[in-house]
Amino acid sequence: MPDIFDVMAERRSVRRYSSEDVSEEDLNVILEAACSAPSAGNLQAYEIVVVRDRRRRIELARASLNQMFMAQAPVHLVFLAYPRRSASIYGRRGARLYSLQDATIAAAFAMLAAHALGYGTCWVGAFHDEEVLRIVGAPDDRIPVAIITVGKPIGGGGHTTPRMGMELFVFEEVHGRPFRHIPVMRKLLRPGC
Ligand SMILES: Cc1cc2nc3c(=O)[nH]c(=O)nc-3n(C[C@H](O)[C@H](O)[C@H](O)COP(=O)(O)O)c2cc1C
Repeated sequence: MPDIFDVMAERRSVRRYSSEDVSEEDLNVILEAACSAPSAGNLQAYEIVVVRDRRRRIELARASLNQMFMAQAPVHLVFLAYPRRSASIYGRRGARLYSLQDATIAAAFAMLAAHALGYGTCWVGAFHDEEVLRIVGAPDDRIPVAIITVGKPIGGGGHTTPRMGMELFVFEEVHGRPFRHIPVMRKLLRPGC
């Protein structure tokens, strides 16, 4: 199993998938990883809909501004924030912020786990919320946060995207004073970083 830094360094958004399925065991590991993520008050104010049905995947791709590459991926994980669950303890902050964060970090854990198991993923955030809720049959008080496509990558698994120089967005003590970054783990650095 690769270590966490290898996984972070090698992950790329994958938008070409082979027809090979995600094994039942791997899918369960990916979901276990998602559920292991931290959440505000440990409330886990999110839900995950596992979509494997081909027609439903095509519908999700259409609802995602016709990003038809999505349909190639044998599994879609639809992460929904569940604002009311977090609001029960944290009120407006739970509903407006924590539930979205809970869903987001769970999705990030799932992505990294999938990569560690040799799958490619893509985080899809451009979609019509109402359409996604309808397609997966979710109540309309849920908020779709991300659709993570999962499948075996074709063609090396996505190209390397650059990153902004850290001095532009990492600050030292006060906002606007650039942090002096000393490159340490070169494999983590993307061009421009
Ligand atoms: C919030 C969010 C929304 C995104 N939405 C989409 C999307 O709708 N379609 C897509 O192909 N990629 C989407 N991406 C993937 C980004 O384009 C990708 O992460 C970015 O270009 C960096 O490339 P990398 O993932 O290969 O490092 C999204 C990523 C995030 C975090």
